[in-house]
Amino acid sequence: MAVLNVIDRDGKAHQLETVEGWRVMELLRDQNMGVEGICGGACDCASCHVIVAEDWAARLPEPREDELFKLDELPEIAPTSRLSCQIIWSDGLDGLSLTIAESA
Ligand code: FES
Repeated sequence: MAVLNVIDRDGKAHQLETVEGWRVMELLRDQNMGVEGICGGACDCASCHVIVAEDWAARLPEPREDELFKLDELPEIAPTSRLSCQIIWSDGLDGLSLTIAESA
C-alpha cells in the first residue's frame, strides 16, 4: 500500500495509510495529525497548510491560483508550502513527505 510520510508539529515522524482519490488534508485529519480542514477542502481556510519535502515539490501538480492567493494570506510560508486539501492522493505519490506547518 502507498504511504504518506508526515512530520507532525512536535517533530515526530509518522507513516500514514492512504486512500486513492482522497485529499491529503483528509488523510491527515482522519489520522489525527492535528489538521482541522475547517472549510472541508474549499481552499478557504488554510488550516491544512503543509510544507512538502523539496524533492517532492516539483512532482506534485502545480497549485491553482486560488491556492496561491490563500497561501499568500498566511503570516509565514515556505517555498514548498501547499494546502493539503488541494492535493488529491494517488498511489503515484507513494512516499510523499511533508511537514505539518506551524501556522496551519
Ligand atoms: S481545508 Fe480549508 S483550505 Fe484546505
